[in-house]
Amino acid sequence: MCGIVGYVGPRASEKALDVVMEGLGRLEYRGYDSAGVALVAPDGVETRKRAGKLANLRAAIEEADLPETATAIGHTRWATHGGPTDQNAHPHRGGRDGKLALVHNGIIENFHSLKGRLESEGVQFTSETDTEVVAHLLSAAFERSGDLTTAMRETVADLHGAFTLLAVHSDQPDVVVGARRNSPLVVGLGEGENFLGSDVAAFIGHTRHALELGQDQIVTITPDTYEVVNFDGTPSDGKAYEVTWDAAAAEKSGYDTFMEKEINDQPHAVADTLLGRTDAEGNLTLDELHIDVEELRAVTKIVIVACGTAAYAGMVAKYAIEHWTRIPVEVELAHEFRYRDPVIDERTLVVSISQSGETMDTLMAVRHAKELGARTVSICNTHGSTIPRESDAVLYTHAGPEIAVASTKAFLAQITASYILGLYLASLRGTSYGRDAAEVMAELQGIPAQIETVLAGMDRVKEIAYYMADSRSVLFLGRHVGYPVAMEGALKLKELAYIHAEGFAAGELKHGPIALIEPGQPVFVIVPSPGSEHGLHDKVVSNIQEIRARGARTLVIAEEGDEDVVPFADEVIRVPHTSPLLAPLLTVVPLQVFALHLSTAKGLDVDQPRNLAKSVTVE
Ligand code: F6R
Repeated sequence: MCGIVGYVGPRASEKALDVVMEGLGRLEYRGYDSAGVALVAPDGVETRKRAGKLANLRAAIEEADLPETATAIGHTRWATHGGPTDQNAHPHRGGRDGKLALVHNGIIENFHSLKGRLESEGVQFTSETDTEVVAHLLSAAFERSGDLTTAMRETVADLHGAFTLLAVHSDQPDVVVGARRNSPLVVGLGEGENFLGSDVAAFIGHTRHALELGQDQIVTITPDTYEVVNFDGTPSDGKAYEVTWDAAAAEKSGYDTFMEKEINDQPHAVADTLLGRTDAEGNLTLDELHIDVEELRAVTKIVIVACGTAAYAGMVAKYAIEHWTRIPVEVELAHEFRYRDPVIDERTLVVSISQSGETMDTLMAVRHAKELGARTVSICNTHGSTIPRESDAVLYTHAGPEIAVASTKAFLAQITASYILGLYLASLRGTSYGRDAAEVMAELQGIPAQIETVLAGMDRVKEIAYYMADSRSVLFLGRHVGYPVAMEGALKLKELAYIHAEGFAAGELKHGPIALIEPGQPVFVIVPSPGSEHGLHDKVVSNIQEIRARGARTLVIAEEGDEDVVPFADEVIRVPHTSPLLAPLLTVVPLQVFALHLSTAKGLDVDQPRNLAKSVTVE
């Protein structure tokens, strides 16, 4: 939530504004309530900010006669304290001279008491934000030391909460100072220029050399140098790495929306996540493992923590991991896990799933699990982000950057990675499924081509979406691994098309939800493979008949060749045959495509749905 960018270039360069605006364009998915920039020159700081999307700021900049500078910072906002207005937009100015500007991502929890103190000292506020408090504190600290890094160290000592801060001051026009606690900040290293960003997308058009920062650190960049210190002043090096994708991966590549591109990227997301998972002896491996394998063998319980779509990936993972490892698996929304009294000990493995690696609720759940003595594994799409950094083991998904706010390709990559984790644990524990891991991996290798097949057959789904554009409510039914797919289908529709949607376990239907069925009610049903164990296929076909008998309009997702569904389906959407546990990688795709086109049919912003932002870095 909130995207921030900082840039310092050579003194003769005038491109700071362009670099920062380009970075904000790439980070807009992190928040689009307002946007702003601050340009720094020795004779002062100039700011421009506008409520609404970045386009409003662009228009304001075009009209303005802004100074050409080599240093700038920028911000796209997801509002927390104070509405989405021009006044509350960042950057905020500090001090009476207005020489300092600050942008912020996160929440300063003690801002009320700090504000009271500043007001009693005569400071006047121009916004309702928590950020402005920090701008004034920082400005006062600068007056004492004359150095922005020292002032930042002094200021962060007074702050509670989660924050990334970037500050500039016209007395040090070649410097941008950043600070982070529980909120993301990455350094981009250029030649004669350096960058700061909420994520690497901010500067990917200029450099792929990046520097990971640790918790509670301050970084100072100038055109030729960077320096990292901990909040206590001790020096640190940061961890340099190369970004493995380039600017093209963060562009629409001819698609109308990022979401459409990302749905079509899914075969690659799965294939890349499967790459290089075996060592020279053919054993499955994780990317980073700081846990003794004996400890992994001794695990008695797995708890998966995640939010939203990632939690639905976790629900799919539960079916697979329990089946292959025989270890009990619980799945819990990360924000609930932390605030109850979970039964966790050193033989519990807590697996977090997160695309961004920065979701505050998931991060806090991981920390809580560690405090309780658990071992932690992270499944994550963002290299070097906080959750994998703080976990004992990491399995990276290789979906590439996900820019659309609604998650699609990351979901498929998360499911794929959790299968790999399940098979890895099964092989460690020597269960029969562990010995069969190679067979499952071979079947997984064939999934990308099957996703292509599903994608190639989506014309009818698109038509259905258009004629259903006026629907007021859509229900989704699934069973076994189809149940989380139903929930994910409903979530996609809610967030993209603002339509009431609910996903149910098909077996639950007669325990209540069937009362919702009235003539014309659209219901998607995800039908298990006819080869599924325990006759689940036939049970779901019976469910279709039950709702059809009550007037539901049935939209059935079923395997090629499954003719049993035909008499009871208003529409049949076909997917290729897979082993039942792997089916979500195919059955969710038509639901994503449906939500995308229904949102488009309603004329909505597919990539930036209202009220949302990617990467929820506040609780
Ligand atoms: C829904 C969606 C969210 C995220 C959730 C977790 O389309 O994108 O529900 O899945 O906020 O985010 P990460 O995976 O970054 O932890």
